[in-house]
Amino acid sequence: MKRTVLELRQSKSGRLVMLTAYDFPGAKLAAEAGVDLILVGDSLGMVVLGYESTVPVTMEDMLHHAKAARRGAPDIFLTVDMPFMSYASNEQALANAARLMKEAGADSVKLEGGLEAVPAVEALVRAGVPVLGHIGLTPQTASALGGYKLQGRDEAGARRLLEEASALERAGCWGIVLEMVPAPLARAITESIAIPTIGIGAGPHCDGQVLVFHDMVGLFSGFTPKFAKRYAEAGALIREAIACYAAEVRDGRYPDAAHSFDMHDEVLKRVYGG
Ligand code: KIV
Repeated sequence: MKRTVLELRQSKSGRLVMLTAYDFPGAKLAAEAGVDLILVGDSLGMVVLGYESTVPVTMEDMLHHAKAARRGAPDIFLTVDMPFMSYASNEQALANAARLMKEAGADSVKLEGGLEAVPAVEALVRAGVPVLGHIGLTPQTASALGGYKLQGRDEAGARRLLEEASALERAGCWGIVLEMVPAPLARAITESIAIPTIGIGAGPHCDGQVLVFHDMVGLFSGFTPKFAKRYAEAGALIREAIACYAAEVRDGRYPDAAHSFDMHDEVLKRVYGG
């Protein structure tokens, strides 16, 4: 049964499981496996579209993939990422979030950023859009943060993250993703706010966890962050299957009788003679 925003907002002691999905089969598998919520992340840009970062991802990309994911998981709470520069002003944020909800069937949107994201979050929440925040490592602005690095390790950084989490809570977010934050700091943030934290590279004390599907099943070979545990080697399995198929076509073993269609000889004789 689909979680409601109210239930999610109150999931402080639970172990929320969120996974990314970008298409029909991925979302269907995630739903069948029983995740609590799906994120159509803009990690799409890197793991599916082959970009070097999430920056080139467009609203059209997000809509296209979110619609497919929604078709695969009609009964799961679906959060969709707002791509880079799609919420630079409140007007843009409202117009783009409306498209994600009306056209793709999103239940919530996620946007990156701390204090600077507060006006957009407030505008969205006022308009009735459930918003998931995202602080710590924010991939859309990773270059400004000095790359894909752990955040909040020093005193100033840790204070800033605590302050940002509380500002996003006050702005009305129903939850906050903490990405690449030291586990003790993630615990302190989790304890300091009443809405759930969903961690990725943020240790075991968050209220939930999220992983990128392609990292988790071994389908992305770009780079594997330390926190991304591989639960399957699907890439190796698929490569092996394709090599088998190619070998069987080349040596004539495929297609065999079991994978071909027959017809009555007389019909063939009438149309082709012989
Ligand atoms: O885009 C994404 O997949 C994300 C997760 C890493 C949280 O934002």
